[in-house]
Amino acid sequence: MYSIDIKTKEKITDVSASLYGLFFEDINRSGDGGLYAELIRNRAFDEGIIPEGCTYDAQNKMITSPTGWVSSFDCCESEGIAAWECKNGANMELTDKNTLHQNRKRALKVHFNGGMILNDGFRGVPVEEGKKYRFYMFAKSEKNVDVTVMLCSADGKSYGEQVFCVSGEYGKYECELTSSATDYNARLGISSGSKETVILGFTSLFPKDTYMERENGLRKSLVEKLLRLNPSFLRFPGGCIVEGFSKETAYRFEDSIGPVWERKPHWLLWAYMTTNGLGYHEYLQFCEDAGIDAMYVFNCGMTCQGRNPDFFDEKLVEEFYEDAVHAILYATASTENEWGKRRAENGHPEPFKVLKYLEIGNENWGEEYNKRYQYFYERLKKEFPQFIYISTDHTEKTGLTTECVDEHFYADPVFFATNTKMYDNLDRRGCDIYCGEYAATIGCKEGILYGALGEAAFLTGIERNQDKVKMTSYAPLFQNVAYMAWEPDMIVFNNHEDYAIPSYYMLEMFGNNRGDYVCGYNVETGYDKRCETGAFRISNMDKTMFSNIKINGKICDTLEFLIGKTDENSQRFSADLECENGEIHICFWDTGFNGEDQNHYDWIVKNQKSKVVHYNGWSNELICECIDCDVICGKNSVEIETFETGFEIVLNGKVLHKETLALVPHITAVCTVDKKEETVITKLVNFSENEIDVSVCCDVNMQDSVELTTLTGNSYYSKNSFENKYSVYPYTEKIAASKNYTIHVKPRSVNVVKHKFMQK
Ligand code: AHR
Repeated sequence: MYSIDIKTKEKITDVSASLYGLFFEDINRSGDGGLYAELIRNRAFDEGIIPEGCTYDAQNKMITSPTGWVSSFDCCESEGIAAWECKNGANMELTDKNTLHQNRKRALKVHFNGGMILNDGFRGVPVEEGKKYRFYMFAKSEKNVDVTVMLCSADGKSYGEQVFCVSGEYGKYECELTSSATDYNARLGISSGSKETVILGFTSLFPKDTYMERENGLRKSLVEKLLRLNPSFLRFPGGCIVEGFSKETAYRFEDSIGPVWERKPHWLLWAYMTTNGLGYHEYLQFCEDAGIDAMYVFNCGMTCQGRNPDFFDEKLVEEFYEDAVHAILYATASTENEWGKRRAENGHPEPFKVLKYLEIGNENWGEEYNKRYQYFYERLKKEFPQFIYISTDHTEKTGLTTECVDEHFYADPVFFATNTKMYDNLDRRGCDIYCGEYAATIGCKEGILYGALGEAAFLTGIERNQDKVKMTSYAPLFQNVAYMAWEPDMIVFNNHEDYAIPSYYMLEMFGNNRGDYVCGYNVETGYDKRCETGAFRISNMDKTMFSNIKINGKICDTLEFLIGKTDENSQRFSADLECENGEIHICFWDTGFNGEDQNHYDWIVKNQKSKVVHYNGWSNELICECIDCDVICGKNSVEIETFETGFEIVLNGKVLHKETLALVPHITAVCTVDKKEETVITKLVNFSENEIDVSVCCDVNMQDSVELTTLTGNSYYSKNSFENKYSVYPYTEKIAASKNYTIHVKPRSVNVVKHKFMQK
């Protein structure tokens, strides 16, 4: 029953060299204190500033954007100075006078009085014995003041220090500190015996040992983890942070280059501030250092459509257009050009050769997007034809030239496992697809094996279609365990350690076993039913329009939540609907969670067209095509019957939709051939809970053993953690094989099987 028939001589498509990439967005404080190795939090003293244009509600610690979007803000400066504290008689206050630069809105006025101020970093400053740290600060004082800077314990015991004499106008005071102890909950301390006032304009502390030893560099252990995935590109800087929730919080390239201490800070809509130290230049530098391509995503003149959008006027759109052009020139122009010159001043005289992709907006859609897309695309393509341009919607469907579309999927594992054929019927003449964000989220917040299994199954379908689906990137990449805004995330870290969720190891297996071409293959598998349960709800409708509502023949008196979640196989909903505007919207199998956790099927009738859409997380799929239907202006009889394998929808006695749900395949696979290694690589996913014997048959003679790498766990809920980092971790073994052989595939497993051709 379970088999894979491999036809190595049949070439389906070449592999796409760009298939596996990285998507980095500063979310969950994954930038400062994370990938960006800065160890001081609130280094520019501006974390508590209410973003321009927003109002603050102190009671609930919330801000409201000019368009009414409400978001948390828990570090307002009127309530304290984030991450800094005083000890032994010192006191400090924020000032907006005499700041270091026009982009620095605050400075810290310190009266040491023989005491000290301490910064606790991102939940502790991590220092290790014998390791070196680079410190600098901009400081000024009217008198000569001796100031000691130290790495120290939480109670002020020095692990290494340096004394500076601060005097006069702002100066940069820098040193290298060596720690005499290992302490992951250390502090940066600044002290003085003087009674004079010292003003700090900016501070910074980095480990010397960053990736490629770059100053203002990246945390080595995290970069190394990323590179083990063998990525081909990096998409940056977002994500929703590109869009922002107001024009002031929209990302601008120009704010992210130049001397770090002069960069404008950026309030990220994930509810914290960044000083933009990890900026455009640093992203490009990382791509160059790592030998991967760069994908720059820029704002196209609108804010996040999921957060009460603001569509910028022509003048502002033009400003963002210019910002995109400047970014491109910064990366590519010679030093004759103003932007090329700026790049040289920032330490990179040669153009960056890594910039390859440009994405116009992020998660934008609809008419407002289409016109902005067209405006950006047509002008940019003319001026910079060398790039691959990415649209965030299917703009080709409105007749616009579209090279590649970025599609995002956040759903439950079953959604991924049942959609492995999603791309099988793509129009091969149409635009390319970039699956730019995907992750099994529903029920998988803690990063469990179940999620990795669904994603792996989905990726086998993508690999089969990599002639058109040329790029993918899992999202989000990182989470600082102490500052969570989104789960799951591929790599979780604290200030000195990290662990990866099972999806990471699955992607490490997939990304490092590519082959040269996808060969012919045929998979035979068993299936599970996709068992849906949940309630009926009336959505977006005037509920007084319904009467005679029955579930399984019993009259219902409430329309809010007609029945509770049930495991009953068959339910029949019937009602009379007094229809005035011809619209019907009824959810069924609604699991009843709000927001991203939703799972429901919606019967939607509008403009005399009827369809059924399955909403799952942030993803949706059209289950029943749009068909014509007549809604009577007056009383309509509506009926939905749900049963174990599907549903039927009847309007005024006529069956509109009768659907059998997609089944969940137990096994899915994809086979590629590595010509140089003379190897067939089979990626084989067992989504089921059973061990399965799969008989494999190859069209040529093969060696008598295979290398089998397996990722599995005791349950769908198996996961990794700081305490148990490698609980779900791949292991490799050799098993006996031949041209025809059987693999005992572990339950709940992702497998990579490498089988060499027989030597001639
Ligand atoms: O990956 C997290 C967020 O999901 C991204 O910022 C956004 O593009 C998507 O909505």
